[in-house]
Amino acid sequence: MNKSPKKVETSLEYLRKLFIMPDSPDKFIEFGHDLLEMIHDFFQEKGGIHSSITLPELSRIFDQAAVPDSPALIKDVLSEIKNKVIGHSVKVGNPYYIGHMTSAIPYFMILLEMIIAALNQNQVKIETAKASSFVERELVAWLHRLVFNRTNKFYEKNIQNPRIALGNVTADGTLANMTALLVAREKAFPPDGKFPGSRMMGMDRALRHYGYDRGVIIVSERGHYSIKKAANILGIGEHNVLNIGVDDNNRIDIKKLRRKINSLQRGKVGNRTKIIAIMGIAGTTETGSVDNLQKIGEIAREVGTHFHVDACWGGSALLVDEYRPLFRGIQEADSVTIDAHKLLYCPMTMGVVLFRSERDLQFIRHSTHYAIRRNSVDTGRFTVEGSRPFACLKPWASLKIIGREGYGLLFRQANKTTHNLKELLDSCNNFETLSVSELFILTYRFIPAKVRKKLLALRDVEASSRGKAGAKGTRQKIKKINHFINALNIKLHKASRRDDTTFVSRTTLESTRYRPQNIVVLRAVLINPLTDKHILKEIVDTQNRIGLQIWEEFESAYRKIVI
Ligand SMILES: Cc1ncc(COP(=O)(O)O)c(C=O)c1O
Repeated sequence: MNKSPKKVETSLEYLRKLFIMPDSPDKFIEFGHDLLEMIHDFFQEKGGIHSSITLPELSRIFDQAAVPDSPALIKDVLSEIKNKVIGHSVKVGNPYYIGHMTSAIPYFMILLEMIIAALNQNQVKIETAKASSFVERELVAWLHRLVFNRTNKFYEKNIQNPRIALGNVTADGTLANMTALLVAREKAFPPDGKFPGSRMMGMDRALRHYGYDRGVIIVSERGHYSIKKAANILGIGEHNVLNIGVDDNNRIDIKKLRRKINSLQRGKVGNRTKIIAIMGIAGTTETGSVDNLQKIGEIAREVGTHFHVDACWGGSALLVDEYRPLFRGIQEADSVTIDAHKLLYCPMTMGVVLFRSERDLQFIRHSTHYAIRRNSVDTGRFTVEGSRPFACLKPWASLKIIGREGYGLLFRQANKTTHNLKELLDSCNNFETLSVSELFILTYRFIPAKVRKKLLALRDVEASSRGKAGAKGTRQKIKKINHFINALNIKLHKASRRDDTTFVSRTTLESTRYRPQNIVVLRAVLINPLTDKHILKEIVDTQNRIGLQIWEEFESAYRKIVI
């Protein structure tokens, strides 16, 4: 039985002892030691990935509707954290957990987080962040060079030049994308002598001043939802994010992109459109695909608009020479975003937005009298966020500890794991792989062998009867079967979650193989270096077993469809 927590006498003397640093380091070291053991136990523990507790049960644990009045002992609260929080956290580092971009981290990251918390630097200004401001600029320059590879002279001049910023370290990819699009918006409606720019006057006046009816952002239909959030916050409007269809490899369809731009440019009075930015994606969230950045860049230049690349997922692969050709054309982007908590294996969270031109961030520069003064060296002059943690220490240290060579090994391993999973799925005839990317994301679905065979046969019939009588009926049958298999995969996914020994995620895509139709897919993200072939086999066997069990319930209904 849990002992009830000991009451602590509230006194200033006691509270003062809680602040860094205690007179004697013993307590700090003792708790630190206990805490590290607790964390270690969590990772050693075998069993479920999500813990078996139900969501209603969790809500009953956390149902205290008022702030506690009196203090409790650190020891007691740590024990409460152990039981109520750690015990019911998701084991995202478990090698059987291959469902999300959030995955295992190297253990030294935990130690780096301790340094970050202990130093408590605030990156907004030099008065609260001395060496850490320089670390941040160095990291930004490293990443800038990886992407844009400008001259040695450029980096020598700018790496620690406080008058400019090559980019921002942000809370996450969402804010990094938003910063890029904010700059794009300012560049689209800049100050011109008579008009002080959209940041001063707002979108409405900016559109009127420049003679447009709306401003748009163009991205493929695989664009991350952060783009819509940014459009909303920046006053552009979510409806003004124009999503372009994708080709069979889930990359933006360049012909459709051109057609869309042509039609926008033909807009008549009353429907004039300013293209604020055209975006490429280097690693789509759902399929890991990389757009043809070179072509998009050429189009953006022709149009005269900002070219932004969302490389939040894939950008870190630029560290490794053999991956660089995938990103051909990225060096021509105006801005690029990368997340450290994805392929740099850093813990939650840190994004970065980089600008090819060292002048671009001047468009959003701010100053005040009490901090980030006009002529100060504060990084906060160029950021959307105010106070920011010293998060950049994690990738900065990790790029030293793991190095480009180490990341190369990790990415090669992730690639091997991705292909191993594909092989295992293909050899167990009850799965269909729908997309495999160079960036470690694979989508697939459970489909019993005989249903798959039927579907393939129907597709052949459809292809040979296109335009003839009967083609429509075949198409409808294919649709019905897919609809049916969608329901089967949703059920399989839910049952796997209950089984809780393995985890992949689920999404719905307009599958390029069966379009126009939305297909429910299982999605694996294969970046944990501890996920070996043996584990993959267990994951596939588990899903196959659960899938076949569910199929028993579905089979009679299926027979009625195919008649
Ligand atoms: C391609 C892409 N862009 C942007 C984001 C947003 O990143 P964050 O979740 O760090 O805000 C994600 C997140 O998964 C992503 O995959």
